[in-house]
Amino acid sequence: MSEPLGELEDLPQAYRDELKQAGVAPLWPMMRNVLPHGAPQPVTQAGYWNYDALRPLLLKAGELTPVEKAERRVLVLSDPGRGTGAMQATASIYLGMQLLLPGESAPAHRHTPSAVRIIVEGTGGYSVVDSERLPMEEGDLVLTPSGEWHDHGHDGNEPVVWLDALDLPVFVQLEGSYAVEGDLQPQRNRPDASEVEYKAAGLAPTRRPGHRARRFPMLRYPWTGTEAALRQMSAYGGDEIAELDYVNPETGEDILPTLGFTAMMFGAGQSQKPPLRSSSCAFHVIKGHGRTEVDGQVIDWGPKDTFTAPVFAAISHQAESEAFVIRIHDRPLQDKLGYYEERAR
Ligand SMILES: [Fe+2]
Repeated sequence: MSEPLGELEDLPQAYRDELKQAGVAPLWPMMRNVLPHGAPQPVTQAGYWNYDALRPLLLKAGELTPVEKAERRVLVLSDPGRGTGAMQATASIYLGMQLLLPGESAPAHRHTPSAVRIIVEGTGGYSVVDSERLPMEEGDLVLTPSGEWHDHGHDGNEPVVWLDALDLPVFVQLEGSYAVEGDLQPQRNRPDASEVEYKAAGLAPTRRPGHRARRFPMLRYPWTGTEAALRQMSAYGGDEIAELDYVNPETGEDILPTLGFTAMMFGAGQSQKPPLRSSSCAFHVIKGHGRTEVDGQVIDWGPKDTFTAPVFAAISHQAESEAFVIRIHDRPLQDKLGYYEERAR
C-alpha cells in the first residue's frame, strides 16, 4: 500500500484561493475518489422491489394519470444508494415498471438509449418497432434498440405491465440522451421475425448475393421458446444451473451493444455462487421462489419481483422451488471498453 496522499487542507489558504481563481484544482486530494485501490467503490446498493407492493401503486397511477398526460406511465426503480427519484437502478441500468390499460396506446418515439421490455403480466399488449408488431406475452423479451421508432398498444381486457430495462444512465452521463416524437407507425401485416425468419435456433434466412440482415433482425424473444430451451439444458446440464444468453441470431453477439440478458433456470433447492463480476446487474423473477444474498443482504424473492446488485457484489442464490430468472447486466459494454472481469471467491 502506498503512502497516504496530501489533503486540500495541507495547502495554504492563499494558494487554494489562487487555484480557485484560475479554475483549477489539485488532483492528489481527490485522486483516491476516482482511482481507489484494487476495486471500484460503487455508489450503487442492492435493491429489492416486491411486485405485490408495486402493483397497486402502478394501478393507482393508471387511475390518477391518463396515458396522454404521461406519454409513458412508469414507476422508476431507483437505486437505494442514490435515493428515490434516481433515474437508475445501477450505474448503467435504468429500470422502470410500465402500465398500459386496455384500449390505451403510448405514442411513437425514438431515442438514443436502447430499451428491452420483459413482460410481467397481462395479455393483448403489443409493441410496434420499426413497423413490426411484437405481441407481448408474459416473460417475453421485446427489444427497442437505439434509434428505432416504437409505440405500444393494447387490445386485451386486463392491465398489461412490463419491466423496462434501458442503458439510459450511460447516455445521460455522455450527455447523449434525447428523443424524437412521431405518429403511430403503420404495422406490417405479418407475424414478427421470431415466428418467421428466426423460428428455430441455428437457422437464418438464406444468404443471397447482396443479402444484408437488419442490425437487430429479431426484436422479440418469446418466453415459451426460452423456457423450453432452459428445461432441455437443465435436463442434460448436470449440477450447474441452466443459463442461456439472449443473442442476435445473425451474429451471435449480445442483443444490445451495452446491456446483456441471461435467462436462468434453477431446479428446486438448487444454488449458485457466481464469481465476483465487474458488471452491475438486475434480476427479474419470471416464476418461482428463492433467496439471494447480495453482499450479506438477504433478499427473499418470488414471482415478478426484481432485485439488483452492484459491481463486484458477492452473490449467492438459493432456489426454494423450481425458478426462472432473467439477469440483466452491462457485461457487453464492459467487454467493449476492454475491462470486463470475473474474480474467484
Ligand atoms: Fe421509448
